[in-house]
Amino acid sequence: MERTFSIIKPDAVANGLTGKIVARLQEEGFRIVALKMVHLTLAEAEGFYAVHRERPFFASLTKFMTEGPIVPMILEREDAISRLRDVMGATNPANATVGTIRKMYAESIERNVIHGSDAPETAKFEMSYFFNAFEVM
Ligand code: CMP
Repeated sequence: MERTFSIIKPDAVANGLTGKIVARLQEEGFRIVALKMVHLTLAEAEGFYAVHRERPFFASLTKFMTEGPIVPMILEREDAISRLRDVMGATNPANATVGTIRKMYAESIERNVIHGSDAPETAKFEMSYFFNAFEVM
């Protein structure tokens, strides 16, 4: 069993897609071990995406992530990190496989509905950024 971290982003929450995305993840075999709704400050979004600080899209990305509530989650299943990335689809929905969450719901490379950790070390950092030990089941 492996754990990964995911966020249902502000575009998806605002468009009423939270339930559909959670249901899809459960159908794909992920167990929800932590979940909540939060509205990030700009400083909190910048801290989460610090690895992208030098990228040209950093300011726009962090502003987007603060425009409304988000739903961070910790998910568990076999090969959770790579399986979540398969189910999400490519970062740019234009390149995502038919049937993936981003292909179904995302409008652009930035407003792309869902985040998923890309490696075990980032998953660990991202889980602890949003959840403490008492919030993880
Ligand atoms: P995410 O998986 O959360 O990781 C970093 C985020 O930055 C990514 O999803 C997109 O929302 C955003 N992103 C990545 N590349 C670009 C880009 N070229 N232009 C704008 N936003 C991007």
